[in-house]
Amino acid sequence: MCGIVGYVGKAEAVPVLLDGLRRLEYRGYDSAGLVILRDGELFRRRAVGRIKNLAKLLEEQPVAGHLGICHTRWATHGGVSEANAHPHLDRSGELALVHNGVIENYRDLREELIGHGCEFRSQTDTEVLAMLVGRELDLRGETPVTKELLLGAMRKALRRVQGTYGIGVVHRQLPGMLFGARRGSPLVLGIGKGEHFLASDVAALVTHTREVVYLKDYEMVTAWEDGFEISSLAGGGCSYEINTVEFGAEEVSKGKYPHYMLKEIFEQPNSLRDTMRGRLSSEEATAILGGLNMSNSELRSVERVVLSGCGTAHHAAMVGEYLIESMAQLPTECEFASELRYRNAPMPKDTLVFVISQSGETADTLAALQECRRKGHRSLAICNNVASTIARESDGGVYMHAGPEIGVAATKSFTSQVLVLNLIALLIGRIHNLSSMQGREILKELEQLPEKVEKVLATGDAIAALARKYASCKNFLFLGRQANYPVALEGALKLKEISYLPATGHPTAELKHGIIALINEETPSVVIAPSDAVFDKNLSNIEEIRARKGPVIAVGTEGNRSLEEVADDVIWIPEAPDYLVPILATIPLQLFAYHLAVSLGCDVDKPRNLAKSVTVE
Ligand code: AGP
Repeated sequence: MCGIVGYVGKAEAVPVLLDGLRRLEYRGYDSAGLVILRDGELFRRRAVGRIKNLAKLLEEQPVAGHLGICHTRWATHGGVSEANAHPHLDRSGELALVHNGVIENYRDLREELIGHGCEFRSQTDTEVLAMLVGRELDLRGETPVTKELLLGAMRKALRRVQGTYGIGVVHRQLPGMLFGARRGSPLVLGIGKGEHFLASDVAALVTHTREVVYLKDYEMVTAWEDGFEISSLAGGGCSYEINTVEFGAEEVSKGKYPHYMLKEIFEQPNSLRDTMRGRLSSEEATAILGGLNMSNSELRSVERVVLSGCGTAHHAAMVGEYLIESMAQLPTECEFASELRYRNAPMPKDTLVFVISQSGETADTLAALQECRRKGHRSLAICNNVASTIARESDGGVYMHAGPEIGVAATKSFTSQVLVLNLIALLIGRIHNLSSMQGREILKELEQLPEKVEKVLATGDAIAALARKYASCKNFLFLGRQANYPVALEGALKLKEISYLPATGHPTAELKHGIIALINEETPSVVIAPSDAVFDKNLSNIEEIRARKGPVIAVGTEGNRSLEEVADDVIWIPEAPDYLVPILATIPLQLFAYHLAVSLGCDVDKPRNLAKSVTVE
């Protein structure tokens, strides 16, 4: 939800911190701030709004130094104001702290701290944490503050906290020392030459180093120019692994594109190739998914599959339900993670759970995973972010390998999720009902998919023109049947989240049960109508819309002339089997939403009120 960055080294800290913050801006952009520690003084700068406002403030009020922490905020507790912007200070003003997460018991702690004379200057839960650490230091009453004293105070304070945190801390009396800790919110240490970094996401670090340590829950880090230590919240050292990040600065920059979203849409041929790489076995005519950690006989004993996620990932899960049921003939259900975590629906013993999450940090999805594991169900994850909490807490799973997705609107992660679900359906199908011939045919189709996606992307200019044509409309309907119903939902979500236009997705046949009342000359319907078994039904529905003067934009299979005759506009996708159409049909809808939002002047990469990963309920 928020993003934090810390730096200690020989370089000027401000440019490093600002660069890191800009790369984390997708995590929140309500306000931003930093603290630099120099010559025993803390210099704080905070600004409401985007990082550029903080950068401007720093031009007017520059600050130099080689150690600092910074933060970009997505407001949870307290409105958007400078007072609520991080970093927050303790009572003495000697300790500064930045925080990503939510302190659930902050009200009780705040009352208690007020009783001890603390005066709060913000409404945030984070200031409570800063005050609490400061209070623990005060109780020790020892000066000067040493590294051990501060770590001890952090441990005591953090043990009292309910909720989630990834924090960065500096203290006036500890020059050259950067501190961090995590529980439930990501935190990564970047190891440079004579410098160290802290960040919520490696994207903030890869321009400086690819050597990182992903901190685990209940771990703390102390870093200085030439070294670092990792210890546990309980006290004592921890073993850790130094990882090399697979991607570099190029992949987290916009390159030649004006927006991350457009770049990520155009990356899809390659992201899909990467998702499949090494996973197609022509010999056995199946998919190889070793990360599931399940033998064929264990998979065969699965009686039911549950798929869960939020937002776009939930739409992918809905497609997955169709895929696994039709390819593997296995009963499959799909549920919002936010519902699953609180429901007590009966789940048979041999239920296999998949949670789906690009970030691997979504709070509701994580809680659904934990709940299913608590009840003894084998629970697997389909994630993009390899070091994420969901990936770590699951019993296994499949990495999407789609590469970093920075645009707030999910694009390439959706198509990779649907592709992974195809691979899972193929694998389970091959141990149940699919013959090797059928398996081979599916593999052949999968291999051709990236080229078909390239063909769809080649129609980008025509889709841009179409988006401009409809940009003055105030309301949109998206309609699809079967596995293309979730595609309609995804098309509607893309449009509303980046253009703020009301757009809703529906099963096409539901039109006549009420939704048709919305049809008029100014309400376009985007109908996904590929040449499949229900094409004639879709054609009739399109006629019904046209009879009521509703404009129709159809997404259809190349060469289907009858569609051209009834729809006002047609977006063509290459011929493909039903199980791959949801991928091909979604891409034009991503482009349509993107170009429409751009023509309305919207900030597509950072839509209002949203953040990329939602780590609160
Ligand atoms: C979609 O464009 C949104 N970014 C949002 O719905 C997102 O898919 C959802 O918050 C789930 O995120 P996750 O995949 O990281 O768990």
